[in-house]
Amino acid sequence: MVLIKNISEIKDLVSEWKKEGKTIGLVPTMGYLHEGHESLIKKARKENDKVIVSVFVNPTQFGPNEDLESYPRNIEKDRELCESCGVDVVFNPEPVEMYKNNASTYINVQGLTEGLCGASRPIHFRGVCTVVSKLFNITMADRAYFGEKDAQQLAVVKKMVEDLNFNIDVVGCPIIREKDGLAKSSRNTYLSKEERVAALILNKSLNLALKKLKNGEASGENVINVIKGVIKEEPLAKIDYVEVVDSKTLKPVKKIENSILVAIAVYIGKTRLIDNFTFNRE
Ligand code: PAJ
Repeated sequence: MVLIKNISEIKDLVSEWKKEGKTIGLVPTMGYLHEGHESLIKKARKENDKVIVSVFVNPTQFGPNEDLESYPRNIEKDRELCESCGVDVVFNPEPVEMYKNNASTYINVQGLTEGLCGASRPIHFRGVCTVVSKLFNITMADRAYFGEKDAQQLAVVKKMVEDLNFNIDVVGCPIIREKDGLAKSSRNTYLSKEERVAALILNKSLNLALKKLKNGEASGENVINVIKGVIKEEPLAKIDYVEVVDSKTLKPVKKIENSILVAIAVYIGKTRLIDNFTFNRE
C-alpha cells in the first residue's frame, strides 16, 4: 500500500492501472476511520482490482461556524486500517493541493440540496459535490462507495453522476451501528460520557417510528411527531430537523404510500448527529 499526497502522482499510477485493464474502486472519506468506513472499504475490496481510499477533510463543505479546525484527524491509524483491509492507495492531499490557484468552480445539485441537512448547512453539498467530482476525475474510478448514513449525500451524488454523465457506478452501503444502536460517526468522539448516553435517543426515536409505520401509520406528520416526542424527553438533545420525505425526490411526504426516507439531525450538546432509515410501504 502506498500513501500519495500529490495529484499528478496518483494520476500517473491510475493511468498505468487503466492500461492494464484494472477496475478501480474509490472510497471517499474525511478520515478518522471507523467500522462504517471499513464496511465501504471491504465492499470496494471485493468488487474491484484496485482500491483507493481518499482521506481529505474538505474545507469547502464546512460552513464558517462549523468544525473544520476541530474535525478529528489521525492519518497513522487510518493508514493502518487501510493496510489491514488490503487497500492499494491512500490518497491524502493537502487542501492547497486540491484547491490550487484560487479554484473557483463549484458543482451545485439543485432540488435535492435545499432541504434536510442543506437547510442548516447551505454550502455543504456544493462542497461535497465539488470535491467528489474532483476525486472521480483524479482517480478515474469505476465504482465509488458511499454510506446510507448520509442518505441525502448519497442521493445528491447519484443525481450529480446521472446529470453530468460521470462514468462511475455509485454504490450505497448500509449504516453500521455501535452495539447499542448509535450510528458510527467520526463526530461521536466529541461526545462526553453523558452525551454518549443521550445520543441513543436518535436511534430510539427512529425505532419507535419504524414500529408505528409497520403497524400501518400512514401520516408523515404523525411519524414526525412521534419522533419529536421521544427526542424532547432527552434534556441534552436539541432537534435540528425531523423529516419524512420521498426517498428519491427528498420532498416532504404527507401520505405514506411508497418508499420514504425518515431522516433526523439532532444536537447532543454542541455535537450535531444525523441518522435515518428508509421504509417501503409495499
Ligand atoms: P465521512 O464522513 O468521512 O464519510 C465517508 C463515507 O463513509 C460516507 O459515504 C459516509 O456515508 C460513510 N459512513 C460514515 N459513517 C457510516 C456508518 N456508520 N455506516 C455506513 N457508512 C458510513 O461523507 C464524507 O466523509 C464526506 O462528505 C465526503 C463524501 C468524503 C466528501 O468530502
